[in-house]
Amino acid sequence: MTATEDLPTLGTMAPRIGRMNPLMRSLQEQAAVCPVRTQMGDPAWLVTRHAEVKSLLMDHRIGPTHPDPPNRSKYLDNPLLDLLITDGDPVAAREQHQWMRNMLTPHFSARRMAKLQPRVEARVHGLIDAIVDHGPPADLHDMMSLPISFQVLCDLLEIPDRDRYLSHLSDAGAVEDDRNAGGVRHPLFGYLEEVSKHKRENPDDGLITALTENISDDMIVAGLTAMVSISFQVTPTNISAGIALFAINTDQRDLLIANPDLQAKAIEEGLRMSKVSESFVPRYASEDIDIAGVTIKSGDLVLVDHYSCGFDDRVFPEPERFDITRSPNPHLAFSRGITHCIGAPLARLEIAEVYKGLFSRLPNMRLAVAPEDVPMLGQQLGGGIAELPVVW
Ligand code: HEM
Repeated sequence: MTATEDLPTLGTMAPRIGRMNPLMRSLQEQAAVCPVRTQMGDPAWLVTRHAEVKSLLMDHRIGPTHPDPPNRSKYLDNPLLDLLITDGDPVAAREQHQWMRNMLTPHFSARRMAKLQPRVEARVHGLIDAIVDHGPPADLHDMMSLPISFQVLCDLLEIPDRDRYLSHLSDAGAVEDDRNAGGVRHPLFGYLEEVSKHKRENPDDGLITALTENISDDMIVAGLTAMVSISFQVTPTNISAGIALFAINTDQRDLLIANPDLQAKAIEEGLRMSKVSESFVPRYASEDIDIAGVTIKSGDLVLVDHYSCGFDDRVFPEPERFDITRSPNPHLAFSRGITHCIGAPLARLEIAEVYKGLFSRLPNMRLAVAPEDVPMLGQQLGGGIAELPVVW
């Protein structure tokens, strides 16, 4: 892959809730795996069809290693993504990754989630109290989706000095600017390092202490940074987009209120349609891969689209219809295989409590703006929802 001038460029379409990006749609119609140009002007392979996404997510020949990281094709100029890419041996990187998964996964067990549930429910109701006091219109992204995501992450990690954490977290969007301004390390990293040291000296039975027993502070900071960035962007966007889908499709909201046993299916349908923006975790081929009529060469950048594949009508009939009875619903919003989202049980718990709380206390909630006018974040941090103005 060399000449990129004539390739379609990613990141050029405005995101919209519940609608597939037209560029992705046309590429998905053309082929399962398409050559594209990233916003950095670099070549990449974009994978949008469900069957090929699923197959590549299970394929050990793509991963976070590249033989020459400084000269790799780049998806975005983003230090959080750079942290993920190494020049190590792919087999060793895979083993280390699996080891990290084995260590993190028990902290998201069903038992741990059951223990957290009353706290999440109470936090949701506390936030709804504030929303009711504020009165309509209210920005539910700011007043519900962001704080519930931060607060629950603090609960899970048993973060000390929560206020400082929250203030660094709200600055996390400036990470890129700081780096471009002269290689200065964002204070969030320093803070997470302190947290890790604190837990080393004051061990408890939480996740960070478990990590300190086995890995270096640097690795802990990398892992925590990933979770912080998820809690700053991915989870809030998914919560807000789910709320918006119900506010737009009031028949589905009424159906859920009348049939609470549809809750689990409703959550999955929301997840299928909720990512909103183009954003990818960059992966590189460590060997040549023949797939869907093309050869991905060793070292090529592969962008696997968990979102567009949820709109693939080969698998999801009428994919732009929000249907909380949809079954089966094999969306890949949480990825699959070796990268399957470790936090999925926590995300599902948060979404369940938000839906239950909002639909019982503000059942008539609707968007205060047209769906296409819901404010969005810039593409640089992976996009997502910026505000969710609602009335009731
Ligand atoms: C609705 C919210 C969420 C969605 C849609 C989501 C989605 C994803 C996806 C697609 C991946 C795979 C990324 C890749 O391609 O490598 C992933 C990985 C991950 N997620 Fe989530 N996530 C969510 C919430 C969370 C939360 C709340 C946490 C924890 C606090 C979390 C922790 C992780 C971790 C640790 C990984 C890395 C897994 C690995 O590489 O083995 N996620 N998530």
